[in-house]
Amino acid sequence: MNDFVGKTAFITGAAHGQGRATALLLAKEGADITAFDVAKKLAYPSYEFGSKSELESLKAEIEALGRRAVIAAGDVRDDEAIKQAVEKSVAAFGKIDILFNNAGICAYAALDSMTDEEWNTMIDINLKGPFNVTRRVVPYMIKAKSGVIINNSSTMGLRGAKRLSHYTASKWGLTGLTKAWALELAPHNIRVVSIHPTGVNTPMNDGLAAMEGTTPLEIAQRSAGNLLPVPWIEPDDVAHLVAYLASDKARYATGSQFVLDAGLLTV
Ligand SMILES: NC(=O)c1ccc[n+]([C@@H]2O[C@H](COP(=O)([O-])OP(=O)(O)OC[C@H]3O[C@@H](n4cnc5c(N)ncnc54)[C@H](O)[C@@H]3O)[C@@H](O)[C@H]2O)c1
Repeated sequence: MNDFVGKTAFITGAAHGQGRATALLLAKEGADITAFDVAKKLAYPSYEFGSKSELESLKAEIEALGRRAVIAAGDVRDDEAIKQAVEKSVAAFGKIDILFNNAGICAYAALDSMTDEEWNTMIDINLKGPFNVTRRVVPYMIKAKSGVIINNSSTMGLRGAKRLSHYTASKWGLTGLTKAWALELAPHNIRVVSIHPTGVNTPMNDGLAAMEGTTPLEIAQRSAGNLLPVPWIEPDDVAHLVAYLASDKARYATGSQFVLDAGLLTV
């Protein structure tokens, strides 16, 4: 398939996990990619983030596919870094057709022991981060009278979970932003959708397991409820959903929530 020849995608949290899988799939299908990632360890949560070497190897893999890649190390909380990355992307490719707001963090904390720092960091990265990035990208889409914005929420953006009230709030918030932006941007021919994966087999799950002193499988089973007999889905499964939604095949999808949950939300 060559759905994305001549298109460009700006992907946050692209160094590893779902963002990287999506960058590679869109590149395989023809897109030039801007990969934005904090690319360093943060104080919270205490697990591995993406790295500069992962961004470099992603660029090499995209170029080996015959596509162009811009990489940018920056935090979705840092407006200046976002502005520079967006300008670099537009200088290289002339436009941004697809924005995948994917960067996010997760950590457990009980309501009665959650600190201000845990709450604020979760909301700043998972909810305000997509706002920060979209605010900088959308003027180019408005100018082009075209664009697709895909927000990576979670099944937790459509349900609740114990010891994840800050994460759940951030992901419901992102579902709300999806609806508000779809309304505001439809007159400019810009579509906005959210995706809602069940547990995905990424470094995030490994990190949560390490923080909790358990295994990734046990973390996956905490959200037990997948109807299909799988503990988690793979990053490529998510990438294929994003590719569909970003393509013209989904040209009338906007404002909607797309669940990829192995049946978790059925009951
Ligand atoms: N893993 C799951 O089970 C799961 C399920 C549903 C939804 N999600 C959501 O999917 C998205 C991607 O998750 P993943 O599983 O690939 O996680 P991951 O931790 O494996 O990868 C996330 C990437 O985002 C980057 N990142 C984190 N904070 C950032 C920041 N402040 N600024 C810029 N980049 C930052 C990291 O460096 C990393 O490369 C997240 O928004 C997550 O909440 C994850």
